[in-house]
Amino acid sequence: MSINILVTGGAGFIGSHTCVALIEAGLTPVVIDNLCNADAYALARIAQVADSRQPVAFWRGDVRDGALLDKIFATHPVHAVVHFAGLKSVGESVAHPIGYYDCNVQGSLSLVSAMQRAGVHRLIFSSSATVYGQPDRSPVAETAALRPCSPYGQSKLFVERLLGDLAHADARWRVASLRYFNPAGAHASGLLGERTAGAPNNLVPVLCRAAASRSESLTVHGGDYPTPDGTCIRDYVHVMDVAEGHLAALRHLDASPGASTFNLGVGRGTSVLELLGAFGRACDTEIRHTIGPRRVGDAAAYWADVELMRRTTGWTARRTIADICSDAWRWQQTLSRQAVVAARSTATAL
Ligand code: NAD
Ligand code: UFG
Repeated sequence: MSINILVTGGAGFIGSHTCVALIEAGLTPVVIDNLCNADAYALARIAQVADSRQPVAFWRGDVRDGALLDKIFATHPVHAVVHFAGLKSVGESVAHPIGYYDCNVQGSLSLVSAMQRAGVHRLIFSSSATVYGQPDRSPVAETAALRPCSPYGQSKLFVERLLGDLAHADARWRVASLRYFNPAGAHASGLLGERTAGAPNNLVPVLCRAAASRSESLTVHGGDYPTPDGTCIRDYVHVMDVAEGHLAALRHLDASPGASTFNLGVGRGTSVLELLGAFGRACDTEIRHTIGPRRVGDAAAYWADVELMRRTTGWTARRTIADICSDAWRWQQTLSRQAVVAARSTATAL
């Protein structure tokens, strides 16, 4: 009998890669996604990449729709839920806090309420290193001060606390909040990756775009930070490592009741200029760049302490910065080819 894992936001960047990892581990993802930041094409790609003859079970809808969730739980016997669905732009959350709290906090409340009604008590939650705000020191351990600087970060912390209270009140709950550092890259096949609506803000998608255009110049946000090369340092972790981290966390839940929180990163920092150099090598193109002013709100440097996750679940990131760059570049080339095909068919139609 198949073991179903309900994946909210499973058509999105990390969710789609996690579905691949689940299928490869013999589990069956059931996806709910309202497609506010994804395309249904990702679902077909998941099955193709994971070499699965079964199409992925997909429910188009919102996690705030309790009646829909009841229907999904009544249709599929669900073993556990992995909850990715949410909005994720720090800047947008500052401009539209109500929308962010509604989607991220109300969405999570709706989900755990439906899980309670259905008697499903295993949950993995997508949290973020943004709950630490600007950490005092690195590596950042799970015990570091929690000082989110945006409604987005607050929304993640609220949900972590809600899950902690739930596990405290009812011993049937087994929850793990995973604080991702900087997920990046794409599936090695080049068939699955990150799609950004409009101009990208995150460094790896910006690098992809600059390399693809060959003429576009990337702005490095600040070259005067107190770091060895003056640019910010982050912990970039390959999206397939992140995906596999969810498998490790699911196994952990089977053995451990209660609520736990883990950092998901590599445990090493990479500067903007180092990443730029690695990306240039991966695509064999020199990335044009200029050093601009600092971006408001950026911390100079932080990376994860990943010991707790390693000790507790055995998971560590296996892929390198070079893998992140070459896989992201392969995905960018797929996107560029798709854009050419779409432009040709529009021209033919005209
Ligand atoms: P994403 O936008 O690609 O995926 C989120 C998915 O959820 C999308 O497919 C979107 O359509 C869907 N969705 C959003 N709101 C929904 C709702 N109310 N009901 C149903 N579906 C909904 O983002 P991602 O990068 O894959 O991130 C997944 C999760 O991880 C998010 O919760 C995000 O906050 C968290 N996270 C991401 C990063 C990152 O750098 N990508 C870092 C830390 C944490
Ligand atoms: N950067 C540039 N130029 C660009 C884009 C980014 O120099 O065009 C720099 C940024 O200033 C920063 C670094 O690249 O120093 C990484 O920036 P990202 O925007 O890729 O990532 P952040 O670390 O700012 O934030 C990411 C996610 C957040 C999440 C956080 C958790 O976007 O949602 O990681 O660590 F909360």
